[in-house]
Parts: sequence; C-alpha cells; structure tokens
Amino acid sequence: MAKVKSAFFCQNCGAQAPKWIGKCPACGEWNTYVEELIAKDDKNSLPGTSNKKKTVTVRALKDVEFQENQRMDTHDAELNRVLGGGLVAGSLILIGGEPGIGKSTLLLQLALNLKERRVLYISGEESEQQIRMRAERIGEIPEQFLILTETDSGQIFSILNDVEPEVLIVDSIQTFHSPFVESGPGSVGQIRQCTAELMKYAKESGVPVFLVGHITKDGSIAGPKVLEHMVDTVLQFEGDRNHIYRLLRSVKNRFGSTNELGIYEMLGNGLREVQNPSEMLLSDHEEELSGIAIAATLEGMRPMLLEVQALVSTAVYGTPQRSTTGFDTRRLNMLLAVLEKRAGFSLAIRDVFLNVTGGIRIDEPAADLAVVAAIFSSSRDIAIPEGTAFTGEVGLSGEVRAVTRIEQRIKEAEKLGMKRIVISKFNKGINPKDYAIDLIQISKVEEVFRRLFQ
Ligand code: TYD
Ligand code: MG
Repeated sequence: MAKVKSAFFCQNCGAQAPKWIGKCPACGEWNTYVEELIAKDDKNSLPGTSNKKKTVTVRALKDVEFQENQRMDTHDAELNRVLGGGLVAGSLILIGGEPGIGKSTLLLQLALNLKERRVLYISGEESEQQIRMRAERIGEIPEQFLILTETDSGQIFSILNDVEPEVLIVDSIQTFHSPFVESGPGSVGQIRQCTAELMKYAKESGVPVFLVGHITKDGSIAGPKVLEHMVDTVLQFEGDRNHIYRLLRSVKNRFGSTNELGIYEMLGNGLREVQNPSEMLLSDHEEELSGIAIAATLEGMRPMLLEVQALVSTAVYGTPQRSTTGFDTRRLNMLLAVLEKRAGFSLAIRDVFLNVTGGIRIDEPAADLAVVAAIFSSSRDIAIPEGTAFTGEVGLSGEVRAVTRIEQRIKEAEKLGMKRIVISKFNKGINPKDYAIDLIQISKVEEVFRRLFQ
C-alpha cells in the first residue's frame, strides 16, 4: 500500500483540512470535522475499469451524436415516471431513505421484475439467504438474477468485468469500502471514493447503477453533500413507517423533471404501485362526520385528493394545544389567527388537532381552505356536505387566493365523484360550463361558512 496519511473531513460537505477545525469554512457547520486516513495514492487509477489513456479532443456540440429513446423500461410505472420515462443507460441513481422504509424491497422488486435482463444485486447489508427469503415472498425469481455479498470495491470491479451485468444494484454505499482509501466504511472519504468508482464504471460500461444511501436523523443522506452532486439522479423514498403508503420523490434528475412522484403501498408481499392515489386516501365512513374536509392538492405534478381531519375541543389546561400530523404547525397557527380575526372565531381557549390521513405530508398552501373548513366543521360540529372538495390558499387578510393548475385539481375531484369544489374567485379563465362538477367560487374565508354551513 502506498504511504498513509490522515486529514480531517467535514462530514457535512466533504471539505478537507490538514487539522481539526470547529467550524467548516466551506459550509458553515459546526463540529463536523472528523479525522480520516487517506492513502496518498494515484487517485486516478480507479480499480476495475479500464485505465487506458483516451485521446482528448474538443468537438462542436452540433456534431455530437445522440440517441433518444435509450431508456430501459423498469416494468414499474411509478419508478419509470419518477426516473423521467425509464432508466437511462449509464446513469447513477441514488435512492435515499430512512432505515426500514423499503429501499431494499424496492430494488429487489425491480430486479425480480427485470426478467429479461441480467441484474446483479450487491448487498453489504444482508446475507444471500436473507435476500432469497425476501425474494420468495415477493415473487418468482428469474434465472438471470445474480447476487453478490461483497463490500470490497476492488473485488467487486474485477467480478463486474467478468459478469457484465445489464443493471447493477448496490445496497448500500455506506457498507462499501475501497482499497484506495484507508478510512473505514461509511466515512466521508470512503463514500466519496466508492461513488466515484461506481460513477466511472457506469459511464464507461453504460450499465445503469442503483445506489442505496441511508439518511441521517435530520433527513439528509448520510455522508457528504457531495454525494448528491456526484450522482445523476437522487430519489428519496419516504413515508410514515406506521402507514402503508410510500412516496418516491425525485430530488435531482439530470434526465427528467424533479416534479415527479411515485406512490406505493407496502404490503406483505412487497410494494404495490398505486395508480389512483386519491381513491386510496379517502377514507370510508358511513355517515357524515364533522371535522373532515377534502383537499384537492398537487404532489409534484400529480393531482391528489387528501383528507384533512380537525378536532377542536375545549382546552383542559391554560395553554391550548396545537398539534398536527402531515401539516406545518406554524401554518396552522397562522390560519387560526386569520380565522380569529376575520371570521370572529374564538379559538384562543380551544385545543386544535389536525391530521392528514394516510401518513402523507401536505406542503402546499392550496390545502389551506380545506384546513379552514375542517376546523369550522369541527368547532361547530356540523359535517361538511358529502362530496365537497376544497382548494385555495388563505392569505393573512382572509382572502382566498388562486392556486396553480386549477383545471387538473377540478378534473381530479370530478373523476372521483365529488359533487362540488370550493375554489378561489381569483382563479381566472375557469368556465363552470366546462365541468360537470359544481364550482363554488369564493373570495374570503368567511364565505366558506355562508355557502356550506348555513
Ligand atoms: P427494507 O426494504 O428492508 O428497508 P430499507 O432497505 O429501506 O432499510 O424494508 C423493510 C420493511 O419493509 C420491514 O419493516 C418489513 C417491510 N416489508 C413488508 O412489509 N413487506 C414485504 O414484502 C417486505 C419485503 C418488507
Ligand atoms: Mg436495506
């Protein structure tokens, strides 16, 4: 081995320093420097791949040939959508998510689905038997599905050259180590080196590579931020572990839009694609209940009807509680203040609980109107008429603002058999005659009462 040296690396951004420093000058984080061993080696000689010198030439961009439609079908409509229409040859895709959310399951299922391709699944986390057992539960195991439980990248690349897989899956980057870096697996130096080696492999061989990355408590992918910069696509797998729904979000994509979203259900026999999410997310109840409102929201580019539930009750203690699941508490406080001021609602001595069903998080202000309606409904104990959806942002003066892509939201509500949808008057260019569903256009929050509860 070459001469060994150590240096300090920021665990957040991957910056390097010769000695320990408290605050990273590159990203401004405190206490992120950790000593790691590095081999003072020829960094360019990555193992496994060919190291032949290429002749470098400058070319006119117009002369570069390219082929469209090089995308591979993954046989998973949700994954295809999130990837921007299929798998691009030679791309490196990072799948991040909390432990136990289903990353390994997703990729194992992908390997099982790609029956016509030679897929190599390299696992540093589970034994061959464990993977076999899991695969048995999910489905039929194709002939060409190969498995390797090895974590040394030097070994792996020599095997790759023999096996020549068509798709490579690496689970997970944190368990891999490269002989070119001396520090332990999971350290910044190792993660960076292994990712660079895989990137080089993907680009030279044209094999698409999936990489699993764990996520730290604060939600970032463990290891340096540089990891995200290095790969072509970053997909985030998220959801509430107590619920069955899982969302696959595209955070970065060099080959497609980042607005795409895939939705799955985690069942006993693996993940199932959810094609019409709204149907799944609206709960069934026999009679009309107070405190429930349906929001016509957009997740990425997909319209989705979500149910918002509110419970307003008298505060037992002096300070009223405000508790939310799947919605921003500060936004709820703001909406309560608006209701108090503009609609004469006295909520100061009431507890307010708010819940979005299905373990899904709403991030867009268009859900405001549904939240307000659910709170109204619960505090008066009057149910919202069945088949009513809401979409609109509520401003500080109680005005109901226009939302984006209103047609899509109305169509989705219509498709799911809603009878009416409450929208903002300021959404221009809407012709009620175009829709079978009733449009209730309002400009102020107090109109919600008048139009629905009186
Ligand atoms: P896993 O894919 O191991 O998560 P990750 O790789 O992200 O850590 O998912 C594990 C969870 O999924 C585990 O709690 C069990 C559950 N699961 C099912 O509910 N059904 C299944 O068919 C499988 C394979 C796993
Ligand atoms: Mg796993």
